[in-house]
Amino acid sequence: MKKLFIQTYGCQMNLADSEEMASHLLGRGFALTQQLEEADLVLVNTCTVRDHAEHRALSFLGRLRQWKREKPGRHIIFAGCAAQRLGKKLQKTFPYLDLVSGAREIEQFSSLLDQSGLFTPAAEAGTPAPQGVTGYVTIMRGCDFACTYCIVPSVRGPVHCLPSQEILAQAATKARQGCPEIMLLGQTVNAWQEENKTFADLLNDVSALPGVERVRFVSPHPIFITPQFLQAVGNNTKIARHIHLPVQSGSSKVLQEMKRGYTREILLDKIEALHRCGFAISTDLIVGFPTETEEDFAQTLTLVEQAGFSAAYCFKYSPRQGTPAAQMPLLDEKILEQRLDILLNKVRGLAENAYGAHIGRKAEILMESPTKGRTSDNFWAQTKKSYTIGSVVQTEVTASDGTLLFTRD
Ligand code: 5AD
Ligand code: SF4
Repeated sequence: MKKLFIQTYGCQMNLADSEEMASHLLGRGFALTQQLEEADLVLVNTCTVRDHAEHRALSFLGRLRQWKREKPGRHIIFAGCAAQRLGKKLQKTFPYLDLVSGAREIEQFSSLLDQSGLFTPAAEAGTPAPQGVTGYVTIMRGCDFACTYCIVPSVRGPVHCLPSQEILAQAATKARQGCPEIMLLGQTVNAWQEENKTFADLLNDVSALPGVERVRFVSPHPIFITPQFLQAVGNNTKIARHIHLPVQSGSSKVLQEMKRGYTREILLDKIEALHRCGFAISTDLIVGFPTETEEDFAQTLTLVEQAGFSAAYCFKYSPRQGTPAAQMPLLDEKILEQRLDILLNKVRGLAENAYGAHIGRKAEILMESPTKGRTSDNFWAQTKKSYTIGSVVQTEVTASDGTLLFTRD
């Protein structure tokens, strides 16, 4: 049997896309391998959100030149966001590449495979069984915002929401296959809507499916975190009490220049409302946006102090070709590095504090191994007794070492 090796870069959406592409390849007679050396086909699913991510994928592709030479009949598919951005140019630089499939072509991936003539057409696509307790379900693709630093709208295109019927069927299948946790995915996941259904309705519907114990979603845009949303999901404890909410900056001026659609004050109100509903909040922050002054940067630091984030992923601004911000003069690289350093120091203790704050509190743990699982607000916990994988344990936190919670039971 021919072997398929998958290398995925970037976000959870890409992981889900890799799974989808893999299902079409498994249906064409491939089996998955974790060893590049024994593979006959490599699927590289790429990210282009920052230059660094794209660079990593391209240098991996560079190394595959030798891999392909070593054994006749080996093939390479280059897919995802960097493939979408670079398009035809890729085959010029990497002539040994067999197939390029951009992120927007995911729905046509199967026919692309057929057209390539490289693979035997499938009777039926076989879906790889989900690994672990979490089942990923893509509910929308693309983005209708136009944040001035971001390349996603141009590579992924405008919003396309999948029908709720299809989403619910997929989630039900994953739950049946042994995933008590369903993670709904989309570039701006909470922009999902349907004629008579809101995103909150969808969350409630998914949570009511047989076998579903917990629902997560990623990545939401702060604009759609409204009192109506919180009211609609607030009492449903199957909706995990953690939200990854990228805020990007703490300065209203920079937020406006980024075209994020909210001010620092609006953001802090939303954050407070989320905390009131018991949500832990993690975030993404960008340092060194072209117009960011020392004062603006200081505002990001004070936002981190005020917001009570449980974690923050910090990125140096990376100019992306074709975006409005790429026209602006860049700040000095030294300034970017200094600011990143200062911010990283500021966020370092967040997780430890957040873990510590759980001592003495109740916890609902979804077990991922017999003695380890995650709380609803997304902290790792170790139990005293052994439990069935996938079960939900109600207990109390008695201690923490800053990276793990320890429980009474
Ligand atoms: N430069 C740096 N970081 C970026 N992000 C998106 N675009 C850029 C860019 N041009 C970050 C944002 C986003 C995360 C996925 O990547 O913080 O939330
Ligand atoms: Fe990019 Fe902004 Fe869309 Fe997020 S909301 S994908 S940052 S344009």
